[in-house]
Amino acid sequence: MSATGQVRQRMPTDIVAMKGGDPIVCLTAYTTPIAKLVDADCDLVLVGDSVGMVLHGLPSTLGVTLEMMIMHGQAVARGLSHACFVIDMPFGSYEESPQQAYRNAARLMSETGAAAVKLEGGVHMAETIAFLVQRGIPVMAHIGLTPQSVNLFGGYKVQGRGEAGAQLLADAQAVAKAGAFSVVLEKVPGGLADQITQALPIPTVGIGAGVGCDGQVLVVDDMLGLFTDFKPKFVKRFGNLGADAAAAVADYAAQVRARAFPAPEHAFADEVVKK
Ligand code: KIV
Repeated sequence: MSATGQVRQRMPTDIVAMKGGDPIVCLTAYTTPIAKLVDADCDLVLVGDSVGMVLHGLPSTLGVTLEMMIMHGQAVARGLSHACFVIDMPFGSYEESPQQAYRNAARLMSETGAAAVKLEGGVHMAETIAFLVQRGIPVMAHIGLTPQSVNLFGGYKVQGRGEAGAQLLADAQAVAKAGAFSVVLEKVPGGLADQITQALPIPTVGIGAGVGCDGQVLVVDDMLGLFTDFKPKFVKRFGNLGADAAAAVADYAAQVRARAFPAPEHAFADEVVKK
């Protein structure tokens, strides 16, 4: 609470302070109404590049542009007053060099008001993360299944099984050392996610990584049952809004066809006549 009694919007430093404490609640949002809906219950809201698949019908996140992220980021900013606001750096906007990453991260933050950026990669992105953090840009890292590398992985597969676990631990340690304020662990075996969580001084936020992380993130449309084209096994549905909406549309169509639907202009015409 501030001196005026208003709740202060969470910053990356507030997320770091939650390490080992109450679990961090995180969801994605891409629009103002959804941002308003999730804001009070979330510690962190992410404008994920999953927006490309969920709202734009793209086959992967690779086609998402900086302009798309900025437009959705601006929409989400209008709906947030409590949760820490983080925005994804899209494919091709940061991998080339730390300088390219800085230029585009600065644009994302200045044009959307986001408090931090998220980017994918471990050891090989550590130099870029350090470059951004040293210049005032808080970074959330993302390791494990990094969807922008789907073509390299050959699909959306679990990462870090067996001997690959040691590489993932090294990735986690590298991004923490570089100054990331938190790290997303996506599709990683639960035991490995627990081990990484114990080893790191920064919060881990899991998605398909068991229950032992410092927090959890889900794509909001997945957990509401709105996005059904692609359903990762780990996604638990907390609502069935897609089916509810389809039933409502079918009901509307049936009423229109049966001329049972009171059209608004009739109601308006009645009111005019009464006056
Ligand atoms: O793009 C996204 O929504 C994400 C989360 C699923 C972590 O990266």
